[in-house]
Amino acid sequence: MASQTTKLLFRQLFEKESSTYTYLLAHVCHPQKPAILIDPVDKTVDRDLSLIKELGLKLIYALNTHVHADHVTGTALIKTKDPEVKSVISKASGAKADVLVQPGDKLYFGDLFLEVRATPGHTQGCITYVTGDGLGQPQPRVAFTGDALLVRGCGRTDFQGGSSSQLHKSVHSQIFTLPKDTLIYPAHDYKGFSVSTVEEEMLYNPRLTKDEETFKNIMESLNLPYPKMMDKAVPANLVCGYQETTSEAC
Ligand SMILES: [Fe+2]
Repeated sequence: MASQTTKLLFRQLFEKESSTYTYLLAHVCHPQKPAILIDPVDKTVDRDLSLIKELGLKLIYALNTHVHADHVTGTALIKTKDPEVKSVISKASGAKADVLVQPGDKLYFGDLFLEVRATPGHTQGCITYVTGDGLGQPQPRVAFTGDALLVRGCGRTDFQGGSSSQLHKSVHSQIFTLPKDTLIYPAHDYKGFSVSTVEEEMLYNPRLTKDEETFKNIMESLNLPYPKMMDKAVPANLVCGYQETTSEAC
């Protein structure tokens, strides 16, 4: 990312209760300095918005990689503080948002863009946002993988329409086919990692280096506890984070 400091502003932010990463990206050479936030958390919205203000950026999109079960998204709160910001999630998620994206869609912020890739398996609507390919776009490319691919791990597949065989296919066809130097920035980390690359995960991911059948067996024997925030977070996140479930889009 060092060679792009004059063009792409990039910040990795952390919310410690849910171990969630939020990413701030901006095209700082553009006159409006348009910015996007990926996977904001309700509890850290004030921190994120003050950083955006201090840096003189104009937030245009608040994106989610999927309907989270472990925290409430910050998108609804952001929109109450800045109604011009548009919320974004995949159409396949079944959630409400201003912009419902589909595979192949491009989201522009200034001259930079993110490409949408479908990576279901952790949830049915999981997507990975990948920085653009081509002249003027950041090199190496950067993939925001949500919970589909974590550093040396992956999201669970036992609820929210999850499927281990689908997750295996998604990661192998949509993420491992990216250039090997593509940076992987996940939605969470529980071990202290911050970033990886496609090459590293293809070599060392303890789950996704395995064939589909072995991967399925690993995922089926995890015996994970029911997520403690799930009953609050999922209904709220289906309407982009409103605490009270409403029929309004956000
Ligand atoms: Fe998740």
